[in-house]
Amino acid sequence: MTHWWQKGIVYQIYPRSFQDTNGDGIGDLHGIIQRLGYLHWLGIDAIWISPMYPSPMADFGYDISDYTDVHPMFGTLADMDELITAAHQRNIKVLLDFVPGHTSNQHPWFLESRSSRDNPKHDWYIWRDPAPDGGPPNNWLSRFDGKSGWTWDKNREQYYLHSFLAEQPDLNWRNPQVRETMLNVMRFWLDRGLDGFRVDVVYRVMKDPQLRDNPPNPDWREGMDPGHRLIEKYNKNTPDAHEFNRWLRAVTDEYDGRVLIGEINLPLPALVKHHGQNDEIHLPQNINLHDTTWEAEKIRALVEQYEALLPEGAWPNWVLGNHDQHRVATRIGQDQARVAMMLLLTLRGTPINYYGDELGMHDVAIPPEKIQDPWEIYSPGLGLGRDPERTPMQWDDTPNAGFCPPDVEPWLPVADDYAQNNVALARSRPDSMLTFTQKLIGLRRAAPALHIGEYRSLSAPLGLFAYLRAYGAERYVVVLNFTNREQVWPIPDEIGRLEIGLTTHLPNDKEIEGQQLSLHQNEGVVLKVAEA
Ligand code: GLC
Repeated sequence: MTHWWQKGIVYQIYPRSFQDTNGDGIGDLHGIIQRLGYLHWLGIDAIWISPMYPSPMADFGYDISDYTDVHPMFGTLADMDELITAAHQRNIKVLLDFVPGHTSNQHPWFLESRSSRDNPKHDWYIWRDPAPDGGPPNNWLSRFDGKSGWTWDKNREQYYLHSFLAEQPDLNWRNPQVRETMLNVMRFWLDRGLDGFRVDVVYRVMKDPQLRDNPPNPDWREGMDPGHRLIEKYNKNTPDAHEFNRWLRAVTDEYDGRVLIGEINLPLPALVKHHGQNDEIHLPQNINLHDTTWEAEKIRALVEQYEALLPEGAWPNWVLGNHDQHRVATRIGQDQARVAMMLLLTLRGTPINYYGDELGMHDVAIPPEKIQDPWEIYSPGLGLGRDPERTPMQWDDTPNAGFCPPDVEPWLPVADDYAQNNVALARSRPDSMLTFTQKLIGLRRAAPALHIGEYRSLSAPLGLFAYLRAYGAERYVVVLNFTNREQVWPIPDEIGRLEIGLTTHLPNDKEIEGQQLSLHQNEGVVLKVAEA
């Protein structure tokens, strides 16, 4: 049986930046409801909404102060129920971000935990006495500033651990009450009809029980991400990360047809272990396309390595970008962004698309006085800030791009090309990236070979990446030109007669001459193998 999340396309919404309907310059749940028609037209199958829970917003919602409610800035619990119902009416599934690793330091659990050494929640977070010299218990770092991951609490006269900001204390999942309470949070949402979760930094929740020091990173140099000064040996991907995965999976399996997507930024050999024996994370998020040099040979090697490593029964997934990574169009350029979209939507595995990437939205340079992201604030000037990829969705050519009212200042600046690149205009243009993406999604939906078929690489000259997707008698070939020169793909003899399907760029003037397909610079083509 094929599950919806194997065939489907997941669309990530950063709720602050999608659509504002209450005029505060910040997106909200009603905004998402209002734009479901667009998402339905685009053809995606599920939305994953980044955190919309009550939060002091030290890390823009990844610091949660109540797991079972909605921040008033985004709406109410009733709005979330309405969103789930409205999305389901359009056959769109809804996933929320589940953040198990840390709460806000304003969460009532933490306030209680820090109140004394013997309160009922004293062990809900990771508290330790100082090292003999009075300093932090070990050398672990906070991810956002590369300083100690331990903060001293005057009241308890102890340190607490925070893998990210001091405002994000790490929960102690070795405490059975924490475990039970957090698993019940999942049930709370699944009972409301939620279709699953994207689980935040799922591989960082369990830590070495002995809290051993991390070794230094010999490759680290001044000017690099300060959070990488040490090799994170003991504070992430520890052996019991898999047991943790199984706890979450068991809860998910209490319900039908739900899915777990896990944020696991690891190289492929370690990543694929998080499928377990099909009893861990359904889709350990594969961010490696983002981390691999954009060259045909390197990407092909990556795909082949992933295909070879995937355990029996495990389903692949692919990601080009998210709210933590620079926009794909900025990284590889607008023309290659289309090639990347064709790759994302035609590889074997669930594609996860970041809002706006279907338009080719690019990073926006943020003036110093508008910087929001703590990562930029605490590690300035290193290119680590995430505001550039979180700017408002570009809906139309009115001031503020239709994201918020024209007289309201959006929480982050709108890209200055919004008048030329926005949904309204792009939908009307046959040659826009949006039109191309929507057509490709349509083709993918209609062709089982493209959404559940087998994958096989085909030989291709340097700079081209070609592969076959096959399901029964249905076969498609994808040829991608990663270079800015014209190229010729010699069609292998084993492939039958090819019919041109879709190209990344118009005009679609391809002709197949003999056994050769010529490609324009930066062009990708999907071809159908004529059935005998
Ligand atoms: C994840 C989120 C990121 C957040 C961090 C801490 O990596 O994707 O946005 O800052 O967790 O919660």
